Amino acid sequence: MGRGNEAAPPGVNINVPHSARIYDYWLGGKDNFAVDRAVGEAMIQAIPGMRYMAGENRKFVHRVARDLVGLGIRQFLDVGTGIPTSPNLHEVAQRLAPESRVVYVDNDPIVLVHARALMISSEQGRSEYISADLRDTESILDDKDLRDTFDFDEPIGLTLIAILMLLADADDPWARVAELRDAMPSGSYLAITHPTADFAPDEVDQAVSAATDASMTLVARDRAAVQRFFGDWQMLEPGLVPVSTWRPAGPVEKPEAAYYWAGVARKP
Ligand SMILES: C[S@@+](CC[C@H](N)C(=O)[O-])C[C@H]1O[C@@H](n2cnc3c(N)ncnc32)[C@H](O)[C@@H]1O
Repeated sequence: MGRGNEAAPPGVNINVPHSARIYDYWLGGKDNFAVDRAVGEAMIQAIPGMRYMAGENRKFVHRVARDLVGLGIRQFLDVGTGIPTSPNLHEVAQRLAPESRVVYVDNDPIVLVHARALMISSEQGRSEYISADLRDTESILDDKDLRDTFDFDEPIGLTLIAILMLLADADDPWARVAELRDAMPSGSYLAITHPTADFAPDEVDQAVSAATDASMTLVARDRAAVQRFFGDWQMLEPGLVPVSTWRPAGPVEKPEAAYYWAGVARKP
């Protein structure tokens, strides 16, 4: 697993661990470097179920894409996309509704390297990639490709999946999410997953320490703090719940084995 020769694509710093590449390592991808694997392994030492958690998070993305298409959503804004992991959001949405349009946003150069894979769209739909930072929401919302892709008279499915923990409280992620929420048309949806120490405080504290020891920002947040990201939008059933239990495909043996809160809300 991982890049054997450790050759870095342009703009990619392989001396500093990056969340996208660590996550790729947990998911069994090849776009990670020794520095990422070292932190990824230290976090697995703290949370043995880390790979399971990453997989449960991906399954949530697929269920949300399916359900939002079912609710009539045909435009998706996915911020914090990560290195492509098939099926990606546009693949799930376009399989069900080929005319779906998806705009992906990430700030990591390695994700940019893979942007082409994310932009292979169905003929009827469209898939775009924007290199931008969630801490600068204007740069996302004013982007020409985003404006060309979306019809702001129609609702949008905004997905912030496993990204908000990478913003420190000092970056006021609640304000940043509120800026995105405010720009969304009525009838839009917001889907979030966020790691938490609520289910296994010791394991999660150790994992956070492993990340911060490697100079990464990683913040686990409690249920109330995660709920605040949804503002006054109306939560869909079953509310803000452990990620594996949000509309699962079948019975879930250990509901709290993946330490993420997950929920979806609708803009009135
Ligand atoms: C853990 S990955 C999650 C990937 C995907 N959303 C998923 O859940 O499968 C987090 C992603 O967020 C991106 N990211 C982190 N901080 C960001 C920021 N401030 N702006 C945009 N993207 C960011 C990282 O580069 C990484 O690709």
